Amino acid sequence: MTRRALITGITGQDGSYLAEFLLGQGYEVIGMVRRSSTVTFERIAHIQDRLTLVAGDLLDEISLIELLDRHRPHEVYNLAAQSFVQTSFSQPVLTGETTALGVTRLLHAIRIVDPSIRFYQASSSEMFGKVVEVPQSETTPLYPRSPYGVAKVYGHWITVNYRESYDIHASSGILFNHESPRRGLEFVTRKISNGVARIAAGLTDELRLGNLDAQRDWGFAGDYVEAMWLMLQQDEPGNYVVSTGETHSVREFCELAFGRVGLDWSDHVVIDERFFRPAEVDLLVGDATRAHSVLGWKPATSFTDLVHRMVDADVEVVRRPDLEPEEAAHLAACHEDTLLPQAEEAGK
Ligand code: NAP
Ligand code: GDD
Repeated sequence: MTRRALITGITGQDGSYLAEFLLGQGYEVIGMVRRSSTVTFERIAHIQDRLTLVAGDLLDEISLIELLDRHRPHEVYNLAAQSFVQTSFSQPVLTGETTALGVTRLLHAIRIVDPSIRFYQASSSEMFGKVVEVPQSETTPLYPRSPYGVAKVYGHWITVNYRESYDIHASSGILFNHESPRRGLEFVTRKISNGVARIAAGLTDELRLGNLDAQRDWGFAGDYVEAMWLMLQQDEPGNYVVSTGETHSVREFCELAFGRVGLDWSDHVVIDERFFRPAEVDLLVGDATRAHSVLGWKPATSFTDLVHRMVDADVEVVRRPDLEPEEAAHLAACHEDTLLPQAEEAGK
């Protein structure tokens, strides 16, 4: 029997890698997409003809019930979210509606339509926030530091609650930061790799960043989606930390990224107060012992390989023959500016 999986957030970074992975496992993949005035299928364009894309929104319970009823998936991967921490400070209510309550809407729709559907919730290391122990594991107390982190704590606990209350096979993957050439341009790693490529091409001379001291446990998104799938193949649902176990600062990321094209980061990086956050998460590093021992999962990509892969890909994007470099750079810069709170306040 062909297995059917529904992915919410299929147009996002993780959604695209997970869709590729599940197609490779022989799944029929259904992707939930929300209505938008422009097409947002860039990341899945190469596999679009092998996917069934259906309209739905985490803000609209009826759409969730109807699409579950019509397509009857065996597994649901809830990757959709307002996922950018900085935006969660300026749009805390939207973030709560989508990233927190959206999980309940989807779990409850599963309960109504077919409680035997297996469920994956995209939880986050951002829940550890102001960390109370190092490294962080499944039992580390949570101390979120942003409306996004708070919303993810809700999503995590409602997943546990529906597991315990209604016997739903609902698992929570506590994933540490994972990146790729498909990462959104507003996140620091892609902002750096894209900035390096633009500077190397002579399109600009500076890259404006916030807190260079923040430390993250950065892995490759392509490695992490396999852990999501493995969680739903277990007899019992559970919570799993997924991480590399290494931590690096934003400054180290800059050093490696600029070094890849023979540049010195300190000649180009400018500290800009606008990119600091009202409350910061200083240090994240995960202990993925449980994922190693129960799921047999291990990351395959090193930090250096990840940085090099992202820079190489962006150097290529900037050189794309079908897009003028200025056009690519302009698009990237516009995108980033619209996400700043100041720009939002000014109604830009
Ligand atoms: P992403 O690239 O920002 O993708 C988010 C996805 O959610 C997009 O497909 C977006 O659709 C969709 N979405 C947003 N609001 C929606 C709504 N109201 N209804 C339906 N879909 C909606 O995020 P990602 O990096 O792939 O991350 C995937 C998930 O893992 C997220 O839940 C994120 O919070 C979580 N997570 C990520 C990381 C990480 O390091 N990447 C770590 C831990 C947890 P549009 O394309 O239409 O905007
Ligand atoms: N975005 C951004 N832009 N971050 C910057 C900048 C900048 O110019 N300068 C420094 N930083 C710092 C941030 O302050 C933060 O400490 C760190 O770089 C990482 O920021 P992001 O890349 O935006 O990611 P995040 O860690 O806040 O959140 C990501 O990881 C979470 C898992 O821990 C997102 O993918 C979340 O969705 C995910 O849950």
